[in-house]
Amino acid sequence: MGKILLLNGPNLNRLGKREPEVYGHETLKDVEEQVRQLVETKHFHLDAKQSNHEGELIDWIHAAEGEYAGIIFNPGAYTHTSIAIRDAISSVTVPVIEVHISNVHKRESFRHISMLAPVCAGQIVGLGTTGYQLAATYLLEEKEQKG
Ligand code: DQA
Repeated sequence: MGKILLLNGPNLNRLGKREPEVYGHETLKDVEEQVRQLVETKHFHLDAKQSNHEGELIDWIHAAEGEYAGIIFNPGAYTHTSIAIRDAISSVTVPVIEVHISNVHKRESFRHISMLAPVCAGQIVGLGTTGYQLAATYLLEEKEQKG
């Protein structure tokens, strides 16, 4: 059975409680469940992980090589700072879709830059938690078309 990895970075464990006016009321568990249900309709399996630690995220990206059809990744604030995560994504062939719940381009200028976007297959920004499902739909369709 094909597998998809859903990765969330720092502070996303606080989803639902954290700045709900920016990130909404759904919890990370809600989001993971929605994506899981979606991928299971295509007979894929979802593994969902969250970490507040850069090195742990890097280890999971390395370990994804050869294991997953793709990674749906909200890197949180590491998006804007982490050359190490960028290098980790570059070091694997598994496609990574960068997802942001909020429209980072409407926010502080330091959120306008992504260190990671140039090495990701694509980026989904500002569509709320639906962005995770759109990323899953893309990865499933790619897998269906390209095998
Ligand atoms: C975020 C946007 C980042 O700028 C921020 O640091 C986050 C969440 C988003 O989902 O909108 O933690 O990635």
